Amino acid sequence: MSKLWGGRFTKETNKLVEEYTASIQYDKELAEEDIAGSLAHVQMLSECGVISSADMLEIKRGLNVVLENIQSGEFEYDVSHEDIHMNIEKALIDEIGPVGGKLHTGRSRNDQVATDMHMYLVKKVNLFITHIEAVQQAIVKQAEEHVETVLPGYTHLQRAQPVSFAHHMLAYFWMFERDKERFQDSLKRTNMLPLGAGALAGTTFPIDRNRTAELLGFEDVYPNSMDAVSDRDFILEFLSNASMLMMHMSRLSEEMVIWSSQEFQFIELDDSFCTGSSIMPQKKNPDVPELLRAKTGRVYGNLFSLLTVLKGLPLAYNKDMQEDKEGMFDTAKTLDGALKLLAPMIATMTVKTENMKQAVNEDYSNATDIADYLVNKGMTFRESHEMIGKIVLYSIQHQKYLLDLTLQEYQTFTPLFEEDVFDILKPANVMNARKSYGGTSPEQIKVQLELAYHHLKVKENV
Ligand code: ARG
Repeated sequence: MSKLWGGRFTKETNKLVEEYTASIQYDKELAEEDIAGSLAHVQMLSECGVISSADMLEIKRGLNVVLENIQSGEFEYDVSHEDIHMNIEKALIDEIGPVGGKLHTGRSRNDQVATDMHMYLVKKVNLFITHIEAVQQAIVKQAEEHVETVLPGYTHLQRAQPVSFAHHMLAYFWMFERDKERFQDSLKRTNMLPLGAGALAGTTFPIDRNRTAELLGFEDVYPNSMDAVSDRDFILEFLSNASMLMMHMSRLSEEMVIWSSQEFQFIELDDSFCTGSSIMPQKKNPDVPELLRAKTGRVYGNLFSLLTVLKGLPLAYNKDMQEDKEGMFDTAKTLDGALKLLAPMIATMTVKTENMKQAVNEDYSNATDIADYLVNKGMTFRESHEMIGKIVLYSIQHQKYLLDLTLQEYQTFTPLFEEDVFDILKPANVMNARKSYGGTSPEQIKVQLELAYHHLKVKENV
């Protein structure tokens, strides 16, 4: 089998070497980007007078035939042609004859593969931004329905202060908002054209890289050909943004696992998002959030792999860089699956408001509020903190909650206590009292919701 680069060689490639060095097994995912890049490249070459317009038309016709074969699944990828670029070029030459050999004028696989990867990530990042918004919409919808739903808020996974379920869910809205912004911001560095950099030093042909960029919808062109072929920052940035997004989704998944446990019973995940046990008939397992949590590991792993691949590489292209692909595809696939499931899983979960309410009635998470109560009556916060600590201890020893103590019991600690302390202690009032900006009171949550709508709408108008 003759190689496109066979001229300098006197022996056939060892079969194992062929297998080992090939990337076609996975880079075929870039087929559409590769052909789009080639179509733009020949168009530009003919406009610049490097090839005739008849040749350009013939090459385009051939590329479209190849594209159809790929899309219909008829195309036969051949490992002896190493990667997607040479598989397509070989098929083109088979289709239209030697004129197909003009396609590779003024370019190299080094700038070609970099171009394909940029195009692929621009497409994926835009898609993920839309998916993140669907998750945010689902969060907002649950939040709207649960502004007044009180549940225990935790620190150290110990009951801390009652919060609104809307507030808890909206915390994730803002994490996802930042994730989305990071993806949006990365686009300006990803939407850049490497093509025309050649192997590393540029080309002797009078090409017009800005025209290629325009044809492909790139916003900018790499100003340095060596940087253009060896930059993989844009992939690292994607992997890093993806890691943070997965981490946020994983934290929410963890809450879903905890909340849906028998011990908590704060939510119930929809049957269609759970699975059963092969032995225990009663089981309904939260497999989706569990797997999402676990798959965060491979996304971090892909980031670390590529950072490690790149750390010792001299300029410019090195074959090591071929190892950038599988992790990128894997991360894209993992994100896609997670984001697509998270939105409907949030939308369809049942929130057990009564259980949440019961939980806050059976804890000491209103203690801060009596501390604040005494401060309002003139005590210093430290002094009152100490005193309430003693009251909590007294209550625990007498197997009571703070609302169960009598006024007389309170007054044995300080005469500053009056009848109104019992109102202050009601969990709903504890929540409603946190009116500081960003706090959990319903009025602040409404402010927050308005801001959330604004962020979602702003994007729709772009
Ligand atoms: N399959 C290669 C890769 O993904 C394409 C670039 C090959 N360039 C080269 N000089 N061997 O990195």
